[in-house]
Amino acid sequence: MAMAELPAAQAAVLADVRALAQRAPRVCVLSGAGMSAESGIPTFRDAMTGLWSRFDPAQLASEEGFRADPARVWAWYAERRAGLHAAQPNAGHRAVAAFGRRRPGVLTVVTQNVDDLHQRAGWPDTIRLHGDILADRWLEPCPHGRACAPAQARPGQPPACADCGNLLRPDVVWFGEMLPAGAIDAAERAARGCALLLVVGTSGAVWPAAGLAGVARRSGARVAIVNPHASDIDDDAHWVLRGTAADLLPRLLDA
Ligand code: APR
Repeated sequence: MAMAELPAAQAAVLADVRALAQRAPRVCVLSGAGMSAESGIPTFRDAMTGLWSRFDPAQLASEEGFRADPARVWAWYAERRAGLHAAQPNAGHRAVAAFGRRRPGVLTVVTQNVDDLHQRAGWPDTIRLHGDILADRWLEPCPHGRACAPAQARPGQPPACADCGNLLRPDVVWFGEMLPAGAIDAAERAARGCALLLVVGTSGAVWPAAGLAGVARRSGARVAIVNPHASDIDDDAHWVLRGTAADLLPRLLDA
């Protein structure tokens, strides 16, 4: 597909970012929902199409919401999981994975996304800040102090432990919950240690992920943003490329 011509100023920015990416000793990619938008996965805050413009995150992406109506939350995640199974990695995911394979030891990928598209594109070592939508975990520690029995499926309800009634819940970080400690530590190390942080498809609305651009910049990295729209962290960037992941990442990262 012929690539759309960029305005001259953007073409110059792209050339600068590409030159750095191709020679930098360490590159960190931080992705948000926009990374998967061209795979057909809805973002959260895009006007009209974003999930939070159609659903209430407090009801569907919080422990309180799950406890209040486990069946509704479980059904919503089942629908999102089905959408993900039907989706494919896009040219952006593929460009990131191919770059990493071509330059061993250079790339770290940190994602806010709970999908598996970076992994399916060929980058299994993706650092997941907000968990994995295709995995489940128990809602409570087992009251008997042991591993719960295998969950029993129940139509329209989250699977439950036959012994203690514990429920399975999606293994994602809900609002108000802590990020996996190992993931945020690894992400901050990558942001501090890279020469280029490439921030792709995030509104920069959610911390601590949004803080990684500032961490990188203060550590001496150059920061480039790929996003068709303005984000809350544009001021942390040295370069801003107004375009999409699937269009710009191949231009930035391909050999
Ligand atoms: N390519 C690149 N960026 C895109 C594209 C695209 N094709 N389409 C949309 N975008 C940009 C939007 O302009 C927006 O800035 O992606 C961003 C998506 O922002 P959000 O929907 O807020 O998603 P994200 O930043 O990942 O949200 C962070 O919030 O709800 C929580 O846990 C959830 O991980 C999520 C976190």
